[in-house]
Order: sequence, then structure tokens, then C-alpha cells
Amino acid sequence: MSDQEIHEGLEGITVAETRLSFIDGEAGELVIGGYPLSELGGNATFEETLYLLYNDRLPTQSELEEFSDELAQYRSLPEGCLEVVRSAGEAGVVPMDALRMGAAAASLDQDGEDPERDKLVIVARLPTIVAAYWRARNGEEPLEPREDLSHAGNYLYMLTGEEPSDAQVGGLEAYLNTVVDHGLNASTFTGRVIVSTESDLYSAITGAIGALKGPLHGGAPGPVLRMLLDMYESGDVEGMLREKLEAGERLMGFGHRVYKVRDPRAEVLSSAAESFYQEDGDSDFFELAKEVETEAVDLLEEYKPGRRLDTNVEFYTAVLLHGIGIPDELFTTTFGIARAGGWTAHCLEQLENNRLVRPRGKYVGEKDRTWTPVDER
Ligand code: COA
Repeated sequence: MSDQEIHEGLEGITVAETRLSFIDGEAGELVIGGYPLSELGGNATFEETLYLLYNDRLPTQSELEEFSDELAQYRSLPEGCLEVVRSAGEAGVVPMDALRMGAAAASLDQDGEDPERDKLVIVARLPTIVAAYWRARNGEEPLEPREDLSHAGNYLYMLTGEEPSDAQVGGLEAYLNTVVDHGLNASTFTGRVIVSTESDLYSAITGAIGALKGPLHGGAPGPVLRMLLDMYESGDVEGMLREKLEAGERLMGFGHRVYKVRDPRAEVLSSAAESFYQEDGDSDFFELAKEVETEAVDLLEEYKPGRRLDTNVEFYTAVLLHGIGIPDELFTTTFGIARAGGWTAHCLEQLENNRLVRPRGKYVGEKDRTWTPVDER
């Protein structure tokens, strides 16, 4: 590599060793903490997955209980943070902005000097922030978190005020596990860059949330859901898909920059959605989603031959989260709640062997301008 060779978007550049996740886009493989996603996604609780990322092994029963209790004890927000989030809800700011404001204010009762504690405080508090914002936005009083529920169960409880079913909790845990980490994506890299300056984890996660907000990263599950609901209503799956493709539109939930086969996350999420809908949901809607998937993959090959467009993570994210009862406006913030596990683990990993991230830019401006006083310009 010559000194001045440019790699737009850092594409193809390896900047760190990581033991957190491994992606093979050609093979459709995703490994989290040493476990293929198919092993972990539908089996682990989110607490087990977090422990795995932080410790590089699964916990024993007693370690899991201790870890879960410690995490749960940080769920409540300091008063000032709750006020910020409540104001965000009352002002009707978009959910990702509320999450950013809440994450920044989550350190009001912390000094940010103990990354081991800070990672737990952050992960524990993000669901409380999202739920409190959502309730305030809907004119409802935020609920105090419950320490007797799991991380996923308590999030659902704080959103609705009702204790969720086992099927809802299981479905959400499968989702959280599935998207907890995915290599050095933009938000994760943002977090690593921030801690590389020896800044604190609250700053890093606030920055990561900012990166996740962008539509190029935060994804498309909302539009996928709208497409599916339209098709559910009309019943004409093939006609509606063809219409979109004829009009040159992209089918939401298909295609991926890295995966050239079915996204392994789609595999795990579709099984989780299938189990959920069998137990607790509108199984006709799930059947429709499967029909849309099959039809869309066939039509993409017909309209875009050789482009290798297959189902991505967003497709079954929409199906699963909708079934569980997460409002579509909260899909990206729920993604953030999950990814906070990966963000914090990456920040700790960066600190283990830190080097300030400091790439270079290639200067293309002028070099020999001479000064002109303002009244002569
Ligand atoms: N529907 C229809 N055509 C699609 C498509 C989709 N979902 N995704 C890609 N294509 C087509 C492009 O139009 C392009 O066709 P062309 O060669 O005739 O111009 C070709 O496939 C390659 O597209 P490109 O944009 O270069 O691929 P990419 O790797 O940059 O795109 C995505 C990746 C995710 C941005 C793209 O697949 C997409 O927009 N998908 C829909 C949105 C979505 O589901 N996003 C969530 C991603 S997790």
C-alpha cells in the first residue's frame, strides 16, 4: 500500500484484532464469541450472550445469576436523565435522538472512570431510556424497571406496563442475540475510535448511537413491515413485488453489501419468528411473510440476474419485532439496545491493547495562497 492510497470508507482495511464476532459473507457465516449464530441465537438468554462477549465464555449458573443481578440493579435512571428522556418524549423528537440524549445523560450519577462498571450501566439503562421516552411520547407515565424480570422481559414490561409472555421474551432474546455484534460496522468502529482517545464509555456509546441513527446503518425494518402489511391487505404478493421491480424500486429486506447468500441472521430470526407466531401471533401474517420471501428471491433473480440478492437481517427483524409488539418506530432503537452489548465489548477490547485511531487524509487543496486583507477581497 502506497502512503497516499485512498480507501474510501476504509473498505477492505483491517484495523484491529477482535474475538467478538466473525463474518464470512460468501459462506453466509456469522460467529459470535466462538459460537455459530445458529447455536447461540435461539438458545441463549441475552444476559448469557453479554457474559460471553465480556468474558469469552458462557457463564455457569451461579455466575449468570450474579451477572444478571448486577446488570438489573443499574436499570433505574438518575432523575436528571429521566427528565431529559421525558422531555424528549413530550417534545416528540425521533426515537434515536431520544436514545442519544438519554445515553449522554445516563452518566449523571457516574464518573465514567470504571469501564467494567460503565459497560453494565449503559447496557442496563438503554431499554429504560427507550421505554420512558416512548411512554412520555404517548402521554403515559414512565414505569420504574423491575429487577425480577430478565433484560428482555423488563424492556417489554416497561413499554407496555404488562408482563410479557414467554413467547414474547424468547422472541426478543433471539433478536437481541442475533444483532448484538457484527464486526467493525460503522457504529462499533465509532465507539472504538472514541475510547481510543482514552475518553469514557458514555461518550463512546453516545457517539455510536449517533452513527447508528443514519439510514445507511440503522436499516430498513420499518419499510419492510409497511411493505408486508400492504401485501397482507391486498393479498397480491407477486403483483405488488413485480410492480416495485418494474418501477426500479428496491425490495426492502433483500440484498446485502457483505452477504451474497441468505444472511445467517435471517435464518435465526425466521426460526424465532416461526416459533413465536405458532405460539402467540397471527400465523397468517407469518405465512404471508414466508410467501413474500420466496417470491421476492425468485423475482430478484429474474429482474436482477447474477446480482445474488437474498434475504437480509431486516426482513425477519420486521416480522419478529412486529409480532412481539414492538412499535415499528422503535425498531432502530431496539437494535441499539441489542448492539450496546457489542459496542461496550468492543470498547473494552480496544482498551485492552489501545492505540489512538488516527488515519491520514490526502491533501488536495492549494498550498501557496497569499493573504489579502478583508477590505481588498
Ligand atoms: N431490490 C432490488 N434490486 C436490488 C436490491 C433490492 N433490495 N438490492 C440491490 N439491488 C440491485 C441494484 O439495483 C443493483 O442493480 P444494477 O446492477 O442493475 O444497478 C445491484 O442489485 C447491485 O446493487 P448495489 O447497490 O451495488 O448493492 P450493494 O451491495 O451496494 O447494496 C444494499 C446493498 C443493502 C444497500 C441493497 O441491497 C439495498 O438497497 N437493499 C434494500 C434495502 C435494505 O434491505 N437494507 C437493509 C440492509 S441490511
